[in-house]
Parts: sequence; structure tokens; C-alpha cells
Amino acid sequence: MTRPAAPRRIAASWLRALPKAELHLHLEGTVSPETLVELSQRHDDEGLTLTEARSLYHYTDFTGFLLAFKAVSERLRTPEDYELITFRMLERLAAQGVVHAEAYVSVGVVYYWRRIEFESLFHGMEAARVRAEQQFGITLYWIFDAVRHFGPEEAARVFRKAAELRPAFPSILGIGIGGDERRAGAEPFRELFQEAQDAGLRLTAHAGETMGPESIWAALNIGAERIGHGLSAQLDADLMEVLAERQIPLEICITSNLRTGCCPTLEEHPVRRYFDAGLMVTLNSDDPAMFESDLQDEYRLAHDSFGFTGEHLRELAANSIEASFLPATRKVALLHQIEQVK
Ligand code: HPA
Ligand code: ZN
Repeated sequence: MTRPAAPRRIAASWLRALPKAELHLHLEGTVSPETLVELSQRHDDEGLTLTEARSLYHYTDFTGFLLAFKAVSERLRTPEDYELITFRMLERLAAQGVVHAEAYVSVGVVYYWRRIEFESLFHGMEAARVRAEQQFGITLYWIFDAVRHFGPEEAARVFRKAAELRPAFPSILGIGIGGDERRAGAEPFRELFQEAQDAGLRLTAHAGETMGPESIWAALNIGAERIGHGLSAQLDADLMEVLAERQIPLEICITSNLRTGCCPTLEEHPVRRYFDAGLMVTLNSDDPAMFESDLQDEYRLAHDSFGFTGEHLRELAANSIEASFLPATRKVALLHQIEQVK
């Protein structure tokens, strides 16, 4: 079977038509300032202005980014809020040709900062997931994310909630650790990762975003199946070899790394080197509303700035499907669709 060649000059319509999965995306990081204003009008006596809302998204480094993420998350209050933001996230993804997403939700932030029960909020998220799937055909799995610098006890509450809800909500597929690696390594989460895996949950970890390769080794050592960011893998040839050999998926987020300052310049980003070294690279948007980009922009950036050809982009889209936690039958069907895009 011959497959159509990708165009040399990449049209937006071709990028859109390419079936893609988004594997590193934070629900709270998809909330636009406009939506925050709308939510504030629901809840506050004196609603946020758009200028005030926009000012919450300002940061100059990674620590500032985490604070901005927290400030936005704190303004999400009711199940209806979570329903609205989930639906808008999926609507925007579908418009970019994303056929499947695996989204992090910062359950750790809800528990630690808001001290409220997460389950009713989750019902709102699920309602939107079901409605968006019916309307756009897009599927979504949830990954319950703990904040690593809140410590293992807080993470236990997050992971156990995922395990408790999973039988009734099979869309809860995995768990992860986000937050600040500089303040907490992966090792203290080893037993909790094992417990989550025993409960049938898939394991992910942000690692090598602000810390060196030792942080990625630690994430692998406690069983992480996918690595979020993995920027510092480039500093360790042995690690690069292991990542290539085991085809551990890397959830690469180029724009995020530039905006948080984790990667100082575009030229220094290792995405192309990783790809050429045979690593399992996927492209992702992380927190699109906070970085003013989306997944289609990430594919465009890979083409324009790193010389990824149409065929390379097709391969990256296929990687996103292969690295997903979808069942094999759906993976095969989507991979076939990717081959067919003219
Ligand atoms: N890293 C760590 N914590 C986060 C991120 C991230 O990319 N996005 C949202 N919380
Ligand atoms: Zn992230």
C-alpha cells in the first residue's frame, strides 16, 4: 500500500486534518482569561475585569508560572465551572484535529489549597466529557495529578481518589506528579506509584523540566511509563540510550519550556536531537491558555523552527497515538487514519 506524501509546505488545513493525540495538557491551564471573567461574574459580587484576569497570567519564571497556575485554579469553584472549562477545552482540541486527549487535573491543588471534596467537581467534568464526545467524537482520559512539593501524604489522597472513582468512571486512566521538582524528587512516591499501579492506574511523572537527569532516572525507577518534559535527558548519554531502547514516551512541550524559562532559547531545545536519536517524542501544549499556544501551533513550530518535514509530523502524530493509553484496537484504527491523510 502506498501512502500519500505529506505536502512540503505545511498548510494549516493539513495539520488540522492529521489525527493527533494531546498527552500533556492541564485542564486548569486551558482556562482563558475571558472564561475566568465569565466564571467570576457567576460567583463574585464585583466581577473580575478582563485586565485583572489577564494580570493573573503574568509570570517571568517557573516559580511565577506555578503561582499563576495556582491563582487561576483557585478561581474554579463549582461542578458547573469544571463542566464549562472541560467542554471548552475539548471544543478547542476538536477544532485542531485532536481525536483523543489525556488531560491532567490538579486534584492536589483542589485538596491542598481549597480543602473541598473533589468528587462533585469531577461529576461536572464527566458531564462535559460525555457531551463533547457525542458532539465532536473526541475521547478523553483523565490523569489525576498530585503536586509533588505538597508531599506523599497529599499525593496519597489524590491517587486513592483516582483508584476509588475508577470503577465507576473508567475515563480515569492514570495518575501523575507535577509541581516543583526542585523541592521534591520522585523517590518518596515509590510505594504510592506501586499502589496506584495495583489499582489498575497508569503512571506518569513530570521530570527533567527544572532538574537534571537524576530526576528522570528517579521517575523511571518508581515506574513512570511516560515522562513529562524530559528536557535534561540530553545531559546524560546513558539515559538517552535507555529512553531510546525502552521507547519511553516523552511528553515534549516546546513553548511551555520557553515561556517558563526552563529552556532559555528555542535553539537550545532538544526536541530535534531527541527525535534524531530515536527517542519516542510526542508534541504537547501543557497549559495553552498560559502559554498562548495550542497543539497545532506546536506542530507548526516543529516544522518552522526545527525542520520537521510533513512526514516527520505524521510520525509525531503516530507517536502520540502509540504513546497514549488507548486500547490497541483504537490505536490501530487511528494509525491507519494518519497514514491516509493526503
Ligand atoms: N510542570 C509542573 N507543574 C505544572 C505544569 C508543568 O508543566 N503545568 C501545570 N503544573
Ligand atoms: Zn505539565
